[in-house]
Amino acid sequence: MTASNEPSAPPAKGGPKESPSVPIRLRPARAADVPALVPLLLRLKRLNEEFDPLLKVRDDAEAQAAQVLKAQIADPKAVVLAVEGVGADKDKVVGVVRALVRERPFYAPPQEGVILDIYLLPLYRRRGVGEFVLRETSEALRTKGAGVVTAEFPAQNEIAQRFYAKRGFRPITEIHARPL
Ligand SMILES: CC(C)(COP(=O)(O)OP(=O)(O)OC[C@H]1O[C@@H](n2cnc3c(N)ncnc32)[C@H](O)[C@@H]1OP(=O)(O)O)[C@@H](O)C(=O)NCCC(=O)NCCS
Repeated sequence: MTASNEPSAPPAKGGPKESPSVPIRLRPARAADVPALVPLLLRLKRLNEEFDPLLKVRDDAEAQAAQVLKAQIADPKAVVLAVEGVGADKDKVVGVVRALVRERPFYAPPQEGVILDIYLLPLYRRRGVGEFVLRETSEALRTKGAGVVTAEFPAQNEIAQRFYAKRGFRPITEIHARPL
């Protein structure tokens, strides 16, 4: 299943994408960004809901998103980034990244950087922004001590699978679920 309800920008032509072909600015999110980041995070969670009913978005998700973002922006073990447009979209937040460094008590390397959410507005997709953001996020996680980077996304999200596979990610564990 693909992200059917979300139109994507047409594929960009051209060779290797070392930097995005649409101009964006990537920066650490600030507390003042929370109102702009919440709708983006909710769009991603609603997209996830399309993939699986066990990812049903809670009624209070908006308040939760604000609370989680606020806490993680202040957390030295978290990476929360705002993707900003430039030019006409200057100062407009067009994407969000949320990632955490967490312990791996039984495995080496002992800390992993987990990418929990990457979301770009549809007009900003398929132009290398995602790859750029992924590289920068990985680097930010490495700086915070992570020796391996992982990504969580719905098993049915084939675009996310392809996106991460292209950057060398492969499945190492799986989460299987059933309702109780
Ligand atoms: C996933 C996402 C962050 C990728 O960002 P992006 O800027 O569109 O990706 P890029 O342009 O850097 O593309 C990198 C690669 O990802 C894969 N990819 C991205 N979008 C794709 C699509 N619509 N169909 C197929 N492959 C796709 C391709 O392998 C692509 O390489 P290619 O252009 O050489 O084929 C973005 O599409 C997005 O925000 N999607 C909605 C939210 C989501 O699913 N997030 C991931 C789970 S957290």
